[in-house]
Amino acid sequence: MQIEGSHVLITGASGGLGQAVAHALAARGARLTLTSRRAELLEDLAGELGAAVIVADLSSSEDVVRLAAEASGTDVLVANAGIPAAGRLESFTVEQVDRVIDVNLRSAIVLTHALLPGMFERRRGHLVFMSSIAGKTTVPGDPLYHATKYGLRGFSAAMRMDLHGTGVSSSCIFPGFIRDAGIFADSGVKLPPGVGTRTPEDVGRAVVSAIERDRGEIEVATFSQRAGARVAGLAPDLSAAMVRRSGGPRIAREMDAALRDKR
Ligand SMILES: NC(=O)c1ccc[n+]([C@@H]2O[C@H](COP(=O)([O-])OP(=O)(O)OC[C@H]3O[C@@H](n4cnc5c(N)ncnc54)[C@H](OP(=O)(O)O)[C@@H]3O)[C@@H](O)[C@H]2O)c1
Repeated sequence: MQIEGSHVLITGASGGLGQAVAHALAARGARLTLTSRRAELLEDLAGELGAAVIVADLSSSEDVVRLAAEASGTDVLVANAGIPAAGRLESFTVEQVDRVIDVNLRSAIVLTHALLPGMFERRRGHLVFMSSIAGKTTVPGDPLYHATKYGLRGFSAAMRMDLHGTGVSSSCIFPGFIRDAGIFADSGVKLPPGVGTRTPEDVGRAVVSAIERDRGEIEVATFSQRAGARVAGLAPDLSAAMVRRSGGPRIAREMDAALRDKR
């Protein structure tokens, strides 16, 4: 699908990866609408990119409905907003559980539900879901995040099948550890040697490629993380043993400690 001139709605646009995705799509001539809760950050970015802004809290079902109505002409949805949700399940309140599911998964599904009819009418559109390599392989102490990221992966793959032949399609992006900006960079956690990181700009390029070349899945991760995802798909118990031995529990504990205030 051609990006130039298309109306693109980006959720989580104030965040590390959202900003990089916005820059990449603006460079391709997209007409952007940026959304998140932090109006000031969005206004600054929108001023730079000539974009529109809709402030919305995706944990509020009323806000999601209002956002979809105000952005009804959207050709491309980039469902990128996400709460890190690091930590063992028993450390969350039920209210926090609901918020993680609402922001990371439910908002993407409800926005898709609301925006699809317009895309069908125009016989053109694209859905991009920001999962994570955590949507393909698990680490200890992060079950809620995994649930939402595996959920987005399943939703995107199933939608892609249902959308076949409609002029609308669906892609899922799987970033690994991303340096310089975003959840992982904000945590300050150090990785064991050999794991490696990619950049927010790599994620921006992946989103462009997903839309222009209609790619179902794109991993934006180093070789070792992509290999880990393959092993997890073929032999989950072997993968769990490898993760336990290679520093996975330590990384999960440190991410939990660093990111608790984002729940
Ligand atoms: N960075 C990484 O290493 C990495 C790796 C794999 C996957 N990902 C995924 O990439 C996506 C973007 O992550 P990031 O690294 O850019 O994180 P980030 O910098 O923390 O940004 C998160 C974004 O989500 C928005 N958000 C959070 N709660 C919200 C709510 N209740 N309502 C509306 N918006 C909300 C935030 O906006 P406001 O605070 O302004 O509302 C912000 O724009 C996420 O889905 C994340 O899971 C990131």
